[in-house]
Amino acid sequence: MKKVMIAYYSRTGKTEQMAEYIAEGVRFSGHNAEIKKISEIKNEKDFSGYDGCIFGCPTYHRDMTENMKTFLFLAQKGNLGGKAGGAFGSHTHTGDAPKLIFDTMEFVYGMNMVNLGPFPLKENMVGTREGMQACQEYGKAVGKNCSLEFCPQGKKTFSEKFFEMYYMMFSKDNKEARKNGKPGRYVAMSDCKLWLYL
Ligand SMILES: Cc1cc2nc3c(=O)[nH]c(=O)nc-3n(C[C@H](O)[C@H](O)[C@H](O)COP(=O)(O)O)c2cc1C
Repeated sequence: MKKVMIAYYSRTGKTEQMAEYIAEGVRFSGHNAEIKKISEIKNEKDFSGYDGCIFGCPTYHRDMTENMKTFLFLAQKGNLGGKAGGAFGSHTHTGDAPKLIFDTMEFVYGMNMVNLGPFPLKENMVGTREGMQACQEYGKAVGKNCSLEFCPQGKKTFSEKFFEMYYMMFSKDNKEARKNGKPGRYVAMSDCKLWLYL
């Protein structure tokens, strides 16, 4: 079971409500969720032990809040690269904050961001059934990402390397080649540093 931190700021309680529903979604996906106010996180060590982080902030003046910016500088030192991530927040008309936060998590920290993208929710939806379900789905999606192997672009995942090796050893063609006494060949598995004689 993986552990996801949901850290948020909320001035009037809407983003806080979203955080609670998102935590439920993470739990539905079979993982642990811990909700924290950003003011509770004092240093970079507070980010250790989590497999994913979801940050929440409402939009004020078409921006995230100043305390959220300070928090993001702290999170930069938290070794979050490769971990599952998402960003959310309540708003009334523009909803810029989640996208700004999401971009920092993706491009500055190198996190494995949920493919649903940032999650801005209009405040009049937060207390509705649809709003609650949308939050839960978002939490579930980030939870699922915690179970996946993150593979930076251009690299092969462990499963891909394993499949390649398995295919070379047991594929029909290779078996036939061996049976017919065809000349062998070496195949480089540069990623695994493994050479197989087929
Ligand atoms: C002074 C002020 C500025 C705001 N600016 C924006 C804005 O630029 N874009 C937007 O979508 N919502 C804006 N809002 C609406 C808030 O984002 C919205 O009320 C949100 O639900 C508050 O979330 P919270 O309860 O988590 O603090 C503004 C609200 C206030 C009071």
